[in-house]
Amino acid sequence: MDLKLDYSNTLADNIMDKHGLSISEIEALTSSGKDILTRLRKQANDSSLGFYKLHEQTDVLTEIESYAQVVRSRFKNYVHIGIGGSALGPIALQTSLLDSYYNFNSEPRMFFPDNVDPDWLDDLAKTIDVSKTLFHVVSKSGGTAETAATSLYFMEFLTEKLGDNFYKNLLFTTDPVKGLLNQIAREYPIKCFRIPPGVGGRFSVLSPVGLISAAIAGIDIRKLLAGAAEMASKCDNDNLMENPAYIYAAIHYLYMKRGKNISVMMPYSNKLRDLADWYRQIWAESLGKRYNLNGEVVETGQTPVKALGATDQHSQVQLYVEGPNDKVFSFLEVENFKNNLTLQNHFTYISEFDYFEGKSLGELLNSEKRATELALSNNERPNLTIKFSEVSEENIGAFLFLLEAATAFAGGLLNINAFDQPGVEEGKIATYALMGRKGYEQKKKDIESLLGKKKLYQI
Ligand code: PA5
Repeated sequence: MDLKLDYSNTLADNIMDKHGLSISEIEALTSSGKDILTRLRKQANDSSLGFYKLHEQTDVLTEIESYAQVVRSRFKNYVHIGIGGSALGPIALQTSLLDSYYNFNSEPRMFFPDNVDPDWLDDLAKTIDVSKTLFHVVSKSGGTAETAATSLYFMEFLTEKLGDNFYKNLLFTTDPVKGLLNQIAREYPIKCFRIPPGVGGRFSVLSPVGLISAAIAGIDIRKLLAGAAEMASKCDNDNLMENPAYIYAAIHYLYMKRGKNISVMMPYSNKLRDLADWYRQIWAESLGKRYNLNGEVVETGQTPVKALGATDQHSQVQLYVEGPNDKVFSFLEVENFKNNLTLQNHFTYISEFDYFEGKSLGELLNSEKRATELALSNNERPNLTIKFSEVSEENIGAFLFLLEAATAFAGGLLNINAFDQPGVEEGKIATYALMGRKGYEQKKKDIESLLGKKKLYQI
C-alpha cells in the first residue's frame, strides 16, 4: 500500500495566507481527537462500529471466493440490485479496478442498476438473458423501496424463464436476521451472505456488500483488505498528527467552522472517478445532521461535490478559482499509470505540437492537476492531494478505509452521530406512504393534504 497525503496547500505558512490553517490549530484539536479515537476503539470492540474491523474478516473471504468461482462458471451476467450504500462502493470497486471496457471483453458482464427508472431497467432486461444471470439483491434493511421494486421487476422475467427454479438465480446480502429478504429466504433455499452487525450501509463496501461483486469480476479481495488493514493501523495511531484520518477530518472541520461548506473531491483519473461518488454519499449522509449529540439544533455538514480532472477544468474550474471561496478541495492523483504511452509529433510541420514529443498522457494529466492546484493556491483556495502510487487493490482498500475513518473522526469533531440517517429514513417512509404500503395510511393522508396546497404552473 502506498498512499500519500499532501496538505501543504491548506497551511497559512505555505501560500494560503488568511485562508490557511496553522499546524497549531490542527494540534489544538488533538485532545478531542484522542477522545474520539478512544470512543471509536470501544465501539469497534463491542461491534457497534463494524466497519473498523472488516479487514479482519477471514472465513467469509474463503466462502466468497469459492462462491465467485461457481458464479463465474454458471452465469454470463451479474446484476447487482441495491441503492446508496448498497451500490456506490461496489460500483467504485468495479470502475477503479477493472478494465474500463470489461463488459465488452469479459464474463460475467457486470450491471449495477441503482435506480428505478423503468426505461433504464427495461433496456437492461432486453440486454441480458435472465436465465444466465445472477441477481444479487443487496439491502441491509431488506425493505428499501427501490431495491424491492427492481427485484420484483426482474422476478417477472425470472419466473417466466425458470418457473419454480427462479430462486437458483438469486443471491441475497442482508442483515443476519432482520428484514423482508430474510423472510423470502426462509421460504426458498436462496444463498445469503450477511452484513456483519454494526456495519452501516455507506460503511459496508469492504463487507460482502462490495466484496462479492468484486470477487466475481476477478478483483483480488484479499489485497483490498490487506490495504485496508494497513491503513487501519495508521488511522489507529495515537499520535494524531501522524494519523491521516484525523488530519483529513480536522482540516475539513476547521474549514467548516470558517464557512467553507463545500468539499470538492476531484480525481485526476477516470478509474478513480466513482470513488468521488462514493465519498459524496459517506460525507453527506454521515455529517449532514440537524441535531448534535446533546440534542441541540446545529444543522451541520459539508456539501460534497465530485469533479473529474482534467475534464472538469473545462467546466468547473473557472468557478473554483474565481467564484466564492467557500470550498476545500481534495485531489486524487495517480503517480504511475499502468499504460502510459509516450507521444510523438506525427505532424512535424506543426511545431506547436513539439512540446508533446516524448511526453506521456499521464505526465500531461498530472501537469494539468498541478496547474489547477497552483491556480487554486494562488487564489487562496485550500486544497490537498491524496496520491496513489498506482491504482491497485491495496491502494483502493486503503483509500476506502481512510475516508471511512476520516468520516468517523469528522462526526466526532462535529459532535454528531455520523452513523444514522434520519433524513434518508424520512424520505423512505414518505415513499412507502405515497405508494400505499400497509401501515402508512395516516402518513399518506398527511402528505396528500400537503401536496394539495402546491400550485403547478404551465410553462
Ligand atoms: O448508508 C445508508 O445507510 C443508506 O444509504 C443505505 O445504504 C441505503 O438507503 C440503502 O439501504 P438498504 O441497504 O437498507 O437497502
